[in-house]
Amino acid sequence: MAGSDTIAVTAPADFHVHLRQGKFSELVTKHVRLGGFTLAYVMPPIRNAEEALLYKAQLQVIDPTVDYLMTLYLSPELTPDEIRKAAKCGIVGVKSYPRGVTTNSDGGIESYETYYPVFEAMQEVDMVLNLHGEIPSDPSNNVCVLNAEISFLPHLEKLHANFPRLRIVLEHATTRAAIECVKKLGPTVACTITAHHLAMIVDDWAGQSFHFCKPVAKFPDDRTALQEIVKQGHPRFFLGSDSAPHPPDRKSRSSPNQPCAAGVYTSPILLPLMAHLLESFGALDKLENFVSGYGRAFYKVPAHEEKVTLKRVSGKLVSNQWSLGEESVVPFYAGKDLGWEIVS
Ligand code: NCD
Ligand code: DOR
Ligand code: ZN
Ligand code: ZN
Repeated sequence: MAGSDTIAVTAPADFHVHLRQGKFSELVTKHVRLGGFTLAYVMPPIRNAEEALLYKAQLQVIDPTVDYLMTLYLSPELTPDEIRKAAKCGIVGVKSYPRGVTTNSDGGIESYETYYPVFEAMQEVDMVLNLHGEIPSDPSNNVCVLNAEISFLPHLEKLHANFPRLRIVLEHATTRAAIECVKKLGPTVACTITAHHLAMIVDDWAGQSFHFCKPVAKFPDDRTALQEIVKQGHPRFFLGSDSAPHPPDRKSRSSPNQPCAAGVYTSPILLPLMAHLLESFGALDKLENFVSGYGRAFYKVPAHEEKVTLKRVSGKLVSNQWSLGEESVVPFYAGKDLGWEIVS
C-alpha cells in the first residue's frame, strides 16, 4: 500500500474527541466527517445518562451521518445505579480527569478508592473507563507536566489489578513509559494515541501556544516510542485524536492569571493528517487498523461498509481557520501541505 496514490479506509473511528456545546458545537461537530471520520467517541462535560442522551440528540441534529458514542464524567455524584442506567441507554464509557480524583490527606496521593463501587458496577455492565493519565502538578513532590503521566502509571496498574475485567483505556499517551506499561498489562487495557503526539516534542509547544495541550508532548525518545508501537501494529493501541477546539483568542493569549487554553485541533484534517504522519515514519500500511480496526475491536463496535478514500495531492494547503457566524477555530497544520486529501 505504501507508495500507492489512493488509500481506502473502512469506517474511520475517532475514539476521543471534544465536540463542545452550543454554537461552537455546530462549527466543530461537522468537522468529524470533514476529516474523514464516521464515528466519534465523545468526551463529556456530561454527568448523567439523561444529559448524555440529550447531548447525543443535539449532535445528531448537527450531523446525523456520524455515529456518536457517549461518555459520562467521573464525579462523586456518579452512582452505581446511574452506571447501570447509563449502560441500558447505550452509554459506553466514563472519563476520569485528574481533577475528578480525590486527594488523600497524607502525601497528596491520588486515590480512586471512593469510586470503587462505581468501577465495580462498570465492570459488571462492561462499560469502559477512560483515564486522563496525569496526576496534578505538585512542586513540593517534584511533579510537573513533564512527569505527570509517568507518575500516574502506578494508579493504572493498581486499578487493573483490582478490576482485571474492567476495560480501561489510558487516553492520549505521550511517553515510552506509558506505552511499556499498557503493553505489559492484560487484554482489558488499551491506549489511545493522538495525531499531534505522533508529530510533536517539547520544542514544538514551548512558546507556540496553538500547540499547547495536556498532556504536553514529551521528549524525542517518547515520540519515537509512540511511532514504534503504531508501526508495530499493536492491537491495543489506536487513534483517539483528543481534538480539542478553543476560540483563537483563548489559544493565542495568556495572562498571569489565565494561561492559554490547552488543546490541539485536528478534526477537520484528521484522516489526511494520519496518512501524512504514518507515512513519515513508514507505517502507512497500519493506517486502517490504527484509525478503525483496533479501536473498534476493543470497543466491540463493528465497522460498517463505508470506505473513505484518500488520494495524494501536492500544493493544497490546510485552511488557516474555519468559521461559522461569530465562531472560529484554527487547525493544527494550518497553512501546511499534508500531501493527502479525501476524495469520497
Ligand atoms: C491508591 C492509593 O490510595 O494509593 N489506592 C489504593 O490504595 N487502593 C490510589 C489508586 O491507585 O487508585
Ligand atoms: O489539551 C487538552 N484539551 N487536553 C485535555 O485533556 C482536554 C482538552 C480540552 O477539552 O480542551
Ligand atoms: Zn484527557
Ligand atoms: Zn480529551
